[in-house]
Amino acid sequence: MGTMSDTPRTPSTDIQRLKSIEEVDLQDLCDATEAAIVDGNGFGWLIVPRRAVLESYWKGVVLMPEREVFVAWLDGRIVGSTQLLRPSRHNHAQGHICRLATFFIAPHARGLGLARGLLQMAEDAAREYGFEQIDLDVRETQTAAIQIYEQAGFVRWGVRQNYARVGEDYVTGFFYTKVLSHKRTAGKAGK
Ligand SMILES: CC(C)(COP(=O)(O)OP(=O)(O)OC[C@H]1O[C@@H](n2cnc3c(N)ncnc32)[C@H](O)[C@@H]1OP(=O)(O)O)[C@@H](O)C(=O)NCCC(=O)NCCS
Repeated sequence: MGTMSDTPRTPSTDIQRLKSIEEVDLQDLCDATEAAIVDGNGFGWLIVPRRAVLESYWKGVVLMPEREVFVAWLDGRIVGSTQLLRPSRHNHAQGHICRLATFFIAPHARGLGLARGLLQMAEDAAREYGFEQIDLDVRETQTAAIQIYEQAGFVRWGVRQNYARVGEDYVTGFFYTKVLSHKRTAGKAGK
């Protein structure tokens, strides 16, 4: 007969917008970032920066008004994140487009639906802010992310050679967009 310890424990997961960051959460976020960088597919960093650099990065990002940070939690600890980037205020012509960037989950927390949850929350926020389109770009080697983006309705519109350099090798990049809404008919209003 089984005991309680034989019962697989359901992991507790959550996705939230991060408006400010406490020290313990900052350290978890830095740990998750390091793990994603070591895994080889995290951010633009190819080698893990000093902890102080990571801490400054995350503290700064949370304060930036043009960035919205979303984090994924597993069993009470932050294990991944993504950011929604608003266009700069003077960019009236592209004020309808936001960008998704730095989308990652630490390797030990993958496969639990956390990335899908992050993407969904970022998309919901983009709609809430009135953006009509979300753009993103990704290395062609990031197959898990590409699968998630395409399943979420992002459409690949461009391919760029030499998009990233990893060591001596160049990696091709894919450019994606998802249209959330159209306010006007394309091509009628502008010059
Ligand atoms: C992409 C990433 C965020 C996915 O995180 P995750 O929490 O494991 O993703 P989820 O559990 O929400 O979604 C799982 C889905 O990812 C896709 N996926 C996962 N691993 C995959 C793989 N090796 N190949 C193809 N698709 C894969 C599948 O669609 C899977 O859905 P399924 O289980 O129904 O088949 C994570 O792999 C990661 O951090 N990768 C490195 C960073 C990166 O590539 N970021 C994107 C560019 S900035």
